[in-house]
Amino acid sequence: MRIKDLPKHVGERVKVRGWVFRRRELKDKVFLVLRDSTGIVQCVVPSSLKGVEKARIESSVIVSGSLKKDERAPGGHEIAVEKLKVVGEAEVFPITKDQSVEFLLDVRHLWLRSRKLTAIMKVKDTALRAAREWFHKHGFWEVTPPIIVSGACEGGATLFKFKYFDRTAFLSQSAQLYLEALIYSLEKVYSLTPSFRAEKSRTRRHLAEYWHLEGEAAWVDHEENMRIQEQLVSYMVKKVVKERKEELESLGRDVKILKRVKPPFKRMTYDKAIEILQRRGMEIEWGEDLGADEERELTKDLRKPIFLTNYPRKIKAFYMKVDPRDENKVLNDDLLSPEGYGELIGGSQREDDLEKLKENMKLFKLRPKDYEWYLDLRRYGSVPHSGFGLGMERFVMWVCRLDHIRDTIPFPRVINRAYP
Ligand code: 4AD
Ligand code: MG
Repeated sequence: MRIKDLPKHVGERVKVRGWVFRRRELKDKVFLVLRDSTGIVQCVVPSSLKGVEKARIESSVIVSGSLKKDERAPGGHEIAVEKLKVVGEAEVFPITKDQSVEFLLDVRHLWLRSRKLTAIMKVKDTALRAAREWFHKHGFWEVTPPIIVSGACEGGATLFKFKYFDRTAFLSQSAQLYLEALIYSLEKVYSLTPSFRAEKSRTRRHLAEYWHLEGEAAWVDHEENMRIQEQLVSYMVKKVVKERKEELESLGRDVKILKRVKPPFKRMTYDKAIEILQRRGMEIEWGEDLGADEERELTKDLRKPIFLTNYPRKIKAFYMKVDPRDENKVLNDDLLSPEGYGELIGGSQREDDLEKLKENMKLFKLRPKDYEWYLDLRRYGSVPHSGFGLGMERFVMWVCRLDHIRDTIPFPRVINRAYP
C-alpha cells in the first residue's frame, strides 16, 4: 500500500514499505516514521519485536499492522506494527541536522532523500509535463537536436571544448540553430535538452549543465513570439499550482501570488529599463548588459513576469534580426521572472536575410566556414521565424521561491564540482 492511500484504510490491517525517516526510542516501544515516495506515516513497534534494532534511519523496511487515525502523529496516522522486515539495513546515516552546504553537496546522492529536494523534484516533473503538454496542444513537434556540436550559438566565452576523435567539438549551449533547420519541414518545433555553459563565476542562478526548453516556429514574428512565451509560462505555472500545491506550500511558497500569473505580461524596452535603473541610482550605462542585480531591481516588486525588449545589437547574439526602426537594436525579448528572480527566457526573431546574416557574422567575428550549413537555411526558402529558450531550473527556482539554483537539479554541475 502506498502511504498516500492509507487514510482510506483506517481500522484495517495494512502493509507498507519504505525507508525509516525518523526513529525515537521509548521504554518498551520504538517510534518509526516511514517515508515512501508519496508521504510519511508513524509506526509504533514493540521493542521486543525481532529486527527492530536494525531499523535505523534510512533502512528500508516492510511493516504490517493495524492502522488508526492519530492527529498528533506525523502524517496524521499511526500503524501498530505486528510484523517488521528490514530489507536493507542502513549503516549510520551521515546526514544529521545543520550540515554545511558543501557537505550536503558531497553526499548529494543521499541528500536527495530529503523532503525538500523530493518536493522540488516533483514540482519539476509537473513543470516539464506541462510544457510538453502546451507545445503538443499548440501544434509543435518535439525533436531531438544534437548535444555534440561544431560551433557556438551563444558566443565563445562559455563554450565547453573537447577532443572529438581527431578534431575539436563543443557541448551545445543551445539547440536553436538546429531547431531553425527543422522548421522548414515541421514549421513549429521544440526540444528539451541539456545545455552547457562554462560559467567561470559562481552565482545563485548559473549552472554549467542545465535543462533547456526551446521553441522555434516559422512565420512567427517578434510580437507573436512573446505571445507564445507568455502563454506557455502561464500554462506551466497554472498546472504546477494545481497539481503541486502541497509541495509548493511545504517549501514556503505562497501560491496565491502564482495564481495571478496570466497573460498578458508587461512589455518594456531596454531603453526604458536603463532609464528606470539610472533613476534608481544603479550604475549602468546605455549599451551595457543587465546583470543579476539590475534584473532584481527591476523585478523585485513585480508579481508577474515582464518582457524586456529591443536590446542593443552589440550585446546580443549574431542571429537576431535587426530592428527595422533602429539598426542599433534587435528584435529580441528577455522574459524576467518576478519577485527579484530575473531572466527566465531569452528569445528573438531571427535574421532571415542571407546578406544581413553574413554581415552580422562578420561583426561578431565568426568564421563563416563553421556556419555554412546555417547560411544554407537562408538560401533555400528563407522564412520569417522566431524562437526562444527557457531555463527549466530558472523556472523551478522562481516557482518554488528558492534562493539558489542548485536545488532545482539532482546533481548540480558548477565550476568546482562534477561529483557525485
Ligand atoms: O539567453 P540564452 O543564452 O539564450 C539562448 O541560448 C537562445 N539560443 C535560446 C533560443 O532562442 N532558443 O539562454 C536561454 C535561457 C536563459 O534565459 C536562462 O533561463 C537559461 O537559458 N540559462 C541558464 N540556466 C542555468 N544556468 C545557466 N548557466 C544558464 N544560462 C542560460
Ligand atoms: Mg539570455
